[in-house]
Amino acid sequence: LRTKYLDLIGKASDEAGLEDLRVASLGKKGEISLMMRELGKMSPEERQTAGPALNALKDEINSALSAKKAALADAALDERLKTEWLDVTLPGRPRRQGTIHPVSQVMEEVTAIFADMGFSVAEGPQIDSDWYNFDALNIPGHHPARAEMDTFYMHRAEGDNRPPHVLRTHTSPVQIRHMEQHGAPCRIIAPGRVYRADYDQTHTPMFHQVEGLAIDREISMANLKWVLEEFFSAYFGTNVKTRFRASHFPFTEPSAEVDIQCSWEDGTVKVGEGNDWLEVLGSGMVHPKVLSAAGVNPDEWQGFAFGMGIDRIAMLKYGIPDLRAFFDSDLRWLRHYGFAS
Ligand code: PHE
Repeated sequence: LRTKYLDLIGKASDEAGLEDLRVASLGKKGEISLMMRELGKMSPEERQTAGPALNALKDEINSALSAKKAALADAALDERLKTEWLDVTLPGRPRRQGTIHPVSQVMEEVTAIFADMGFSVAEGPQIDSDWYNFDALNIPGHHPARAEMDTFYMHRAEGDNRPPHVLRTHTSPVQIRHMEQHGAPCRIIAPGRVYRADYDQTHTPMFHQVEGLAIDREISMANLKWVLEEFFSAYFGTNVKTRFRASHFPFTEPSAEVDIQCSWEDGTVKVGEGNDWLEVLGSGMVHPKVLSAAGVNPDEWQGFAFGMGIDRIAMLKYGIPDLRAFFDSDLRWLRHYGFAS
């Protein structure tokens, strides 16, 4: 029995065969187990010699089984190592990484600069009522500014005669929403998307603005000019020239637009040189009617507001002469300007 099993174990070629041998010898009904059971029927003298002999056999078979099992595992590992291998000297495969869109980067930077000047961030919906987008801002139904703004209107259901909602044409409705909720005094900016049906080198139907609003008892045009100049020198560096131009908006009085000096040629735009001026914002002292519409007493409070084109100041900073490229999602363009890897 001993030689039979040791011989078979030696010849076993896989783990399943080995397991069969274990069952056949030491399993519940295995040959050796059955013999162990016979011990009970033996005389004490017989048992004294047969017992230890059987136990020794059992141990011997057991250790032969586990030795063979280990040997088989070793051989299997050797086999795998022969066929599977890894060249750790191969260069890694590069993985392209997403990056933050330039307009989002500028938005964050603008927010940080105004935060340093004590402005907190307010938000409003991109689909708004015509009351917030126009009427409350002193642009009544017949006003030419409504037509000039190339507004996108949302359709109402058939038979619903209420005035349609609009895709907000500017961030100015956030002025109203904020003052309605929080009153005066206040010092906020409101960055976000705005929409106008317009498309050329400096206009896209969706673009970004940041609204500014500062209301207190003695805020003046001088404060507006200081805040904006402070902003531009922080954003562009100190060598940028600004131009305040008298203008008109229904919601401010007096009103001013601000241009940034730049050179605009050979497919690039540079700030701080040249004879071109790019308009980047509208601004002014908030009209008393606007304060009233938002529930703020114009005899007690006054202040300034501005609406700045975020994409425009991004164009100027990165030297990109066509606004439309920002929204083409062309990875080659994004990579060329270092906006994607
Ligand atoms: N809402 C104006 C625009 O989009 C800009 C503006 C904002 C002007 C606030 C004055 C005050 O053109």
